[in-house]
Amino acid sequence: VSALGVREAYRLWASTYSENAVTSLDEELAAAMSPSPRGLRLLDAGCGTGRRVAGSDAALAIGVDVSQEMLNAGVAPCAAAADIVALPFADGEFDLVWCRLVLSYVAQLENAYQEFARVLRPGGQLFVSDFHPDAVAAGHKRTFRDTNGELHEVLHFVHPAERHVGTAARAGLSLVTSRDGKVGESVRSFYDSAGRSDLYERDRGLKVVAAFLFERST
Ligand SMILES: C[S@@+](CC[C@H](N)C(=O)[O-])C[C@H]1O[C@@H](n2cnc3c(N)ncnc32)[C@H](O)[C@@H]1O
Repeated sequence: VSALGVREAYRLWASTYSENAVTSLDEELAAAMSPSPRGLRLLDAGCGTGRRVAGSDAALAIGVDVSQEMLNAGVAPCAAAADIVALPFADGEFDLVWCRLVLSYVAQLENAYQEFARVLRPGGQLFVSDFHPDAVAAGHKRTFRDTNGELHEVLHFVHPAERHVGTAARAGLSLVTSRDGKVGESVRSFYDSAGRSDLYERDRGLKVVAAFLFERST
């Protein structure tokens, strides 16, 4: 299987993109770690179909994604095509930024964290989740099946936690808290419904998502 670049991958994945063990753990971590968007100005950077901001009770909820096909497949009322390394927003426009399961597709983290810091107001917060290096070390790949059932791998980069935290700090974002999402009972149904209960036993306890909450210095 040859790895596809991110735009080609999500062009093919968009119509079948759905919840899986990794995205479900990301949702659990966001619920536990991110401030509630209620009444805030929220940017979801790399929003995909926009499913996380759709129906949000934020005062303003905007999603951007580099894949027009993912945006087209989605439901978010306010979403636009843009790259997270060059956000089309003014300084300080948001109280809260989410960047969920996106940064492993970005080779250099510097521009992304600088952009998040720039569009956040002083004191604003950033929730980031990423594919965990332990999962990559255990042989997990970013793969999906297209509408014809063909398996594809997506080209991605591995960013250790220290790189996230160090790059964010240089952009003026200090770490509030971090946590890992591990394979366990809450995601067992994804393995069972794929008929891969054997893989569940193998993966149990494996860290597959790394999550961070940062705050922009005032
Ligand atoms: C795993 S999906 C996650 C989508 C969404 N955050 C969610 O949790 O449902 C990753 C998304 O990141 C987007 N993406 C990757 N690199 C990007 C970039 N540089 N700028 C904007 N979006 C990007 C992809 O197009 C894809 O929609």
